[in-house]
Amino acid sequence: MTPEPQVAPEVLDFYTQTIDESARLTSSADGKLELVRTQEILRRHLPSSPARVLDVGGGPGIHAQWLVEDGFQVHVIDPVPRHIDQAPETGATAELGDARKLAAPDDSYDVVLLFGPLYHLLDQEDRDRALAEALRVVRPGGLVAAAAIGRYASLFEHVATTLLDVDHVRNAVTDILTTGVHQPGRKGFTASYFHTAEGLAEELSAAGLRDVKVHGIEGPAWAVLKGTEQHTGESVQDTPMFRAALEAARLAEPYPDLLSASSHMLATGTAPA
Ligand SMILES: C[S@@+](CC[C@H](N)C(=O)[O-])C[C@H]1O[C@@H](n2cnc3c(N)ncnc32)[C@H](O)[C@@H]1O
Repeated sequence: MTPEPQVAPEVLDFYTQTIDESARLTSSADGKLELVRTQEILRRHLPSSPARVLDVGGGPGIHAQWLVEDGFQVHVIDPVPRHIDQAPETGATAELGDARKLAAPDDSYDVVLLFGPLYHLLDQEDRDRALAEALRVVRPGGLVAAAAIGRYASLFEHVATTLLDVDHVRNAVTDILTTGVHQPGRKGFTASYFHTAEGLAEELSAAGLRDVKVHGIEGPAWAVLKGTEQHTGESVQDTPMFRAALEAARLAEPYPDLLSASSHMLATGTAPA
């Protein structure tokens, strides 16, 4: 019998003890930029509400909340019990689960989101399973949208935080640039996979999705926001600097060369009809 997929204990520990994921996209300007841009990109691709959305790796339901407010029926899947306790406060339903083995029946959702699993799954085989499961449960012609962390995000981030002159940070960043992998047991985040834009598009296309498009979420100026908040201790949300970074993300969209300047990318594809 095939064993059930297991989520690494460090993922459970990270989201239970190290950070409160429910505040990540609202407590910093770069987080807010990620939220606003994810909303505006995803809304272009979503069907009319009401429609059924499976939010796989939905965490405490930050995206579920606005999707519910937009009129969608949202079901959150996440392996972290704390998130499954928090998510129903958004009006979504929620269930413990793993992107690699979904309980949902075939063709049962209009939209499947994978905003988290692809960077938490280090092995190509696991990411392929998660995408295959998304394609299995979405209806023919339905939307699959997947988020990834960009290959160069850790380089930009640690310039902003100035931690790049710390040996173990520089070594970890060098490894990510070379291999795409943040190895288990290293500080800062869980083990994770950092995609190139081409690699992300290839994974969605290889899964059988059509019309695959990769969007840069935060654009080229997110690290300016991060660095400014880090070094002044002041929020720059709702300031001209934030609005300029948001505008820069929008202006950068037509230029594939600038995809890798974003911290995150959002890939969309359609299930064959
Ligand atoms: C950074 S959070 C993102 C939460 C939310 N989707 C968002 O975009 O803000 C990543 C999420 O992926 C979840 N995750 C990690 N491994 C997973 C897996 N194998 N299957 C499903 N979700 C997973 C984590 O528990 C966490 O809630």
